[in-house]
Amino acid sequence: MADTSSDTTGSTPVCLGVDVGGTNIKVGLVDLREGELIGDRLVTPTPQPATPDAVAETIRQMVGEFEWDGPVGVAVPTVIHEGVARIAHNIDSSWIGCDVVELFDRHLPGRTVVMLNDADAAGLTEVHYGAAGDVDGLVVLLTFGTGIGSALLMDGRLIPNTEFGHMMVEDIAGRGFDETEHLASASVRSREEMSFAEWTPHVSNVLRAIEDLLWPRAFVLGGGVSEAADEWFPLLKNRTPVRAAVRLNDAGIIGAALHAAMHADVDGLGKSLSVKGT
Ligand code: BGC
Repeated sequence: MADTSSDTTGSTPVCLGVDVGGTNIKVGLVDLREGELIGDRLVTPTPQPATPDAVAETIRQMVGEFEWDGPVGVAVPTVIHEGVARIAHNIDSSWIGCDVVELFDRHLPGRTVVMLNDADAAGLTEVHYGAAGDVDGLVVLLTFGTGIGSALLMDGRLIPNTEFGHMMVEDIAGRGFDETEHLASASVRSREEMSFAEWTPHVSNVLRAIEDLLWPRAFVLGGGVSEAADEWFPLLKNRTPVRAAVRLNDAGIIGAALHAAMHADVDGLGKSLSVKGT
């Protein structure tokens, strides 16, 4: 049983968040005032193949480990349009066209389960508790992991379902055009054993393509590699200010919990609802 013993602190709004990744599924109870996990998070390997039913069943088991019967937010690496998953790059292709409302009605009947894209969840986290909260105008958040996730934030409001990881850019190594996540994700860096000096120009190339089109006020860069921001941010050659995401590996859980709490109007959080259309 996950330790939720600190979930007794008066009126602190709380919700449960789930982050589905290509390798692991992570679940945690979130203090929505501070944007921090309460107690331990649970981590379980993502079932393979990562079909909707296999993932939903794993989530059901993990959620059962928490003393929690309120809403559940789930962050997944896919576009969610009106309750239907639309793409699948780092999860099983059977997600495409999956009605996620019907899916969770079967696996977690009677529960409020709200899904959103994993990078959008990280974007919500950084706007409400992290590096993007004090920036007016347009902010582009990118997460560097197995793929590249993106969140577009305008005056603190999320514009959901952007997919800059699949934008085509010209490879600076002369190998033609390819998707940004095939050129500059953290998994490419480890697979090709690139140093930060070798990898960062590829990131700059991706940021340049985005800044030339959108002219954001700031980039927020997240994923595990942001822990080493001091080593590679100085090597970036872009005109837009760059900030490191603050919540790193828990951003998906926290943003998913916040999103679900907003939808379910936990403690009046619906008033600050900043996501439509997911
Ligand atoms: C997916 C996105 C996701 C990103 C990071 C991409 O391959 O298309 O939806 O946000 O990976 O997980």
